[in-house]
Amino acid sequence: MKAIILAGGRGTRLRPLTHDNPKGLVPMVTRPFIEYQIELLRTHGIHRIVLSLNYMAPEFSRRLQDGARWGVSIEYAVEDVPLGTAGAIKNCETCLGGERVLVLNGDVLTDVDLGRLNAEHEERGSDVTIATVTVDDPAAYGLVLVDSTGLVTGFLEKPGWDEVAVNTINAGIYVIEPSIIADLPQGREISFEREVIPALLAKGAAVRAHASRGYWLDIGTLRNYLKAHMDILDRRIDVMIPGRKVGRGVWSGKNAVVHRTARLAGPVVMGHHVAIQARAEVGPRVVLGHGCSVGEGAHVSESVLHDGVQVGKGAKVRRCIVAAAARIGDACRLDSMVVAPSSVVGAGTRVDPELSAPVAG
Ligand code: GDD
Ligand code: MG
Repeated sequence: MKAIILAGGRGTRLRPLTHDNPKGLVPMVTRPFIEYQIELLRTHGIHRIVLSLNYMAPEFSRRLQDGARWGVSIEYAVEDVPLGTAGAIKNCETCLGGERVLVLNGDVLTDVDLGRLNAEHEERGSDVTIATVTVDDPAAYGLVLVDSTGLVTGFLEKPGWDEVAVNTINAGIYVIEPSIIADLPQGREISFEREVIPALLAKGAAVRAHASRGYWLDIGTLRNYLKAHMDILDRRIDVMIPGRKVGRGVWSGKNAVVHRTARLAGPVVMGHHVAIQARAEVGPRVVLGHGCSVGEGAHVSESVLHDGVQVGKGAKVRRCIVAAAARIGDACRLDSMVVAPSSVVGAGTRVDPELSAPVAG
């Protein structure tokens, strides 16, 4: 079976991180996010992947090429203009050779059992199977109403709070029969969630839900992006952490230089060529991208620093996302803040309401 990864969105809710990267290539614990999805597919024996793209499409092919480095083969289906989620699936049709396909939203971090999802789809002879999960904030997703036999009876994309009757949502993972894709209109924008699923339900197609267990998170907001890091560091999802384990909960890339008086309190992940100066304190729950430096006496905790970030002497950085090549001045105090790529932060504290609430849980 082939898989389509839908990765053509602009990632507006992840700005400013998506100014210089599409959402699928934003670093997640120092690796491009899409690597986690490729690994999930590979774990379940899916080695043929079609990447459905629009925004910053050439960046994907430049970084991933034919996929051989990840043990998969990647084809690219690029839209000139965004076609919406169903238009994007239709645009991949020529790559599918008339086969059944697994479709994955390009921004979900998950370990759901794709094999069980496909097996259930096949056993029940469904037209479409929607993987579902339960969440605390269903209004932000596609609400799925299911009867006692697993048949989907209703689908409400981004419902109003007054419409939320259950907390079962669309996980953004589907198995779809080729006949369904054949019937989609060609070359126009169309939403799978808002148009195609409701139309299939209206005509009585066999659309079933598969209640998935395991870890699941849409990383497409700044808060969830930070939470995904904390969850990976806390080992709430079993994914590969890059680098070598050099201490309790501490992973390091090549050529890290950590002053003997600096303190690392795991979990901490460091990329290559990281430098940590005297009396600095790093951790717990910190990712330092390649080439980051942390100045003398600085403190960094519960934060994600992308490549090439410099933290000045005596600065304090807590619960922040700091994008690539940003510089944080000496003695700055940053709490719950998102710092844009290549920016220079002077003094003071600014709290980002989206990040200020605890992300663990
Ligand atoms: N190729 C292509 N073209 N991809 C697109 C397009 C497009 O026009 N529009 C969106 N995508 C991709 C995005 O890049 C993303 O990976 C995926 O489709 C889903 O889009 P989001 O913008 O992240 O949607 P959402 O998170 O608000 O809602 C979707 O995901 C939820 C689960 O995370 C819906 O599928 C919800 O029903 C679902 O609950
Ligand atoms: Mg999303």
